[in-house]
Amino acid sequence: MVRSDALARLHAMQAGDLPVHGGRTLAYVYDSGLAEVDRIGREAVAAYAGSNGLDPTAFPSLLRMENELVGFAADLLNAPDEAVGTVTSGGTESILLAVQAARDSRPEVVSPSMVLPETAHAAFHKAAHYFGVRTVVVPVGDDFRPDPWAMGRAIDGTTVLVVASAPSYAHGVVDPVSEIAAQAKAKKVRCHVDACIGGWVLPYAERLGRDVGEWDFRVPGVTSISVDTHKYAYTPKGTSVLLHRSPALRRAQYFASARWPGYTMLNATTQSTKSGGPLAGAWAVVTTLGDEGYLALTEQVLGAVDRLVAGVAQVDGVRVVVPPDATLVALACDETLDPFTLTDEMTARGWYVQPQMSFRGRPATVHLSVSAATADVVDDFLEALDQAAKASVAAGPVVVDPGVVTFIESLDPARLTDDDFEGLLATSGLMGDPDAGLALPERMAEVNALLDVAAPSMREALLVAFLDRLARPVRY
Ligand SMILES: Cc1ncc(COP(=O)(O)O)c(C=O)c1O
Repeated sequence: MVRSDALARLHAMQAGDLPVHGGRTLAYVYDSGLAEVDRIGREAVAAYAGSNGLDPTAFPSLLRMENELVGFAADLLNAPDEAVGTVTSGGTESILLAVQAARDSRPEVVSPSMVLPETAHAAFHKAAHYFGVRTVVVPVGDDFRPDPWAMGRAIDGTTVLVVASAPSYAHGVVDPVSEIAAQAKAKKVRCHVDACIGGWVLPYAERLGRDVGEWDFRVPGVTSISVDTHKYAYTPKGTSVLLHRSPALRRAQYFASARWPGYTMLNATTQSTKSGGPLAGAWAVVTTLGDEGYLALTEQVLGAVDRLVAGVAQVDGVRVVVPPDATLVALACDETLDPFTLTDEMTARGWYVQPQMSFRGRPATVHLSVSAATADVVDDFLEALDQAAKASVAAGPVVVDPGVVTFIESLDPARLTDDDFEGLLATSGLMGDPDAGLALPERMAEVNALLDVAAPSMREALLVAFLDRLARPVRY
């Protein structure tokens, strides 16, 4: 018997998720606030859900949409006429491919490496892990930007790629791209600018007369740029654009295999069969909004950021870590309140803000990705933040049981067993009813505080063990 209530069941399940509209979810989602544009994007996704991007000759409309989307991005980022690009599934895939292409363009390098600031997105570490590229990590200064000379000094004969962010996710500042790219160019090494989150905002910010520095293809030495449409181009999830300055720089990104009896596999991305839906959705939204639409949305979102930054200065115990260059704001707390309690208190008031763990001696912070839709609710946000800060002060510090700290310190992250993890859950009281399985507590402050005291490698191991527990099949 075929059931007819799948959509009703879907919507019921979805009600428990974070809202993707309304501007109150300040991570993971990007909301233009334009319902009609959203509708067009979603209808386009649905119309192309069954089309296969594997073979552009079989689905020529997908090839056309891809070339038009890449063309739009190339114009936006001032790419030279010979620039080329690929639509990928997201920022991480664009970064993976940039690293893979850089590695494979230098087959003579036995142990390839890349130079990146400590603030570069974790996707570069994933690429390093997948492709056997060593990371040479350069610290950032008090302004959360790396010293370009230190980046230059870190380049050696094994360096296949140098990385800069425009801007960085965690602190929202643009790296000194011109100086970094100059160092890379002088040493004939590729330089990738990760503009995944800022690449659709900064060009319009510049047109609006804001000083955003130099970071796009006008900078000599920048060889590739990633920019995600599924972030600030406000398209449905599932697309990013990876641009290369020339076809020669892209060549190593392609994979072809005729070493089997079936069709010759020929891919520009890690996926082979891929839905045409995300590309169609991105194309539909980008061509609907166009330059004019994005200029207006950027003016709106940057206005919201300005008001938010000014308003945070009036909230006791909370401050902006560093003046943001685009739409991402990091908040820090003074010793009177705990940032993880603050995020819980914001959740309790209907706002999602994202905790960021302490790192390399710098304290934990709270991340905000501000959307155009947030512009209408900035005053409500500030009101909620003020109340949340007061409630956090009243709640007092989150103390991790010293016994739990000792237990964590006794564990080896490289060899964390199921028993260790079980022991930790029991010691920390996270496993309520063992028969009911793992359930997320309502308040996350204790969990976050516990992760925060763990070393990064331990954090990784604990979260992997945690996800492994969550990802278990539901059998009927
Ligand atoms: C600067 C930057 N790079 C890369 C990524 C990874 O993008 P995605 O989550 O689409 O894979 C992000 C995501 O927020 C980002 O902010």
